[in-house]
Amino acid sequence: MIEFRGAGPAEFTEQLETVIDIYTAAMDPPEEQITGRKTIMRNHATYPYFQCYFAELRDSSPDFAAPEPRIVGFAYGFRGAPGQWWHDVVLRGLVDELGQEAAHAWLGHAFELAEIHVHPAYQGKGIGRAMIKTLCAGRRERSAVLSTHDRPTAARHLYASMGFTDLLTRFVFPGGHEEYAIAGRPLPLT
Ligand SMILES: CC(C)(COP(=O)(O)OP(=O)(O)OC[C@H]1O[C@@H](n2cnc3c(N)ncnc32)[C@H](O)[C@@H]1OP(=O)(O)O)[C@@H](O)C(=O)NCCC(=O)NCCS
Repeated sequence: MIEFRGAGPAEFTEQLETVIDIYTAAMDPPEEQITGRKTIMRNHATYPYFQCYFAELRDSSPDFAAPEPRIVGFAYGFRGAPGQWWHDVVLRGLVDELGQEAAHAWLGHAFELAEIHVHPAYQGKGIGRAMIKTLCAGRRERSAVLSTHDRPTAARHLYASMGFTDLLTRFVFPGGHEEYAIAGRPLPLT
């Protein structure tokens, strides 16, 4: 049985090793990027209104000896704000492409859905969709925004099916070379 449990910055930071293990299993990143990714995630936990949800596998038997719940997925986000690297870079890109007004309408009061990953053994079972719904429910921001590889991935399919539209495509972050899509949708998520 899968259950979803909210975790604030303190617990998220405590669980960082598990979080990175799931990220690594889901994304298969080059080994040399893992330490940097951990640092970025630890820093994300300091951002305003940070919220994480864990998807946990629980043994549903009433047996007292049941093992501890195991985290099989996580998703987190926070309030975007000037001074945050992603926010500043994407805002510049949106201003260039859409103009000041539209860019600020999207990013001026936005929930940034920063990471969502499900262990490959548990993908395709509705966990990702449920985590986005849970994470977005009750957020006070005007919009939800994210970046994802600009390729026909499961993530891209999932976001589109939840009403996210592309704000920028083929976007390359400074220092990178891969192409990303920046997507957004108004909140609340209905
Ligand atoms: C993207 C991800 C978080 C989605 O979580 P999930 O639990 O697998 O997704 P769900 O089961 O809720 O399915 C959502 C949709 O994606 C589709 N999907 C899921 N896994 C898929 C796969 N391997 N291939 C194709 N489509 C897939 C499902 O069919 C579903 O669409 P549908 O409801 O129209 O049928 C998960 O697949 C994952 O961790 N992927 C690797 C890491 C990643 O890309 N993270 C996002 C970075 S931006």
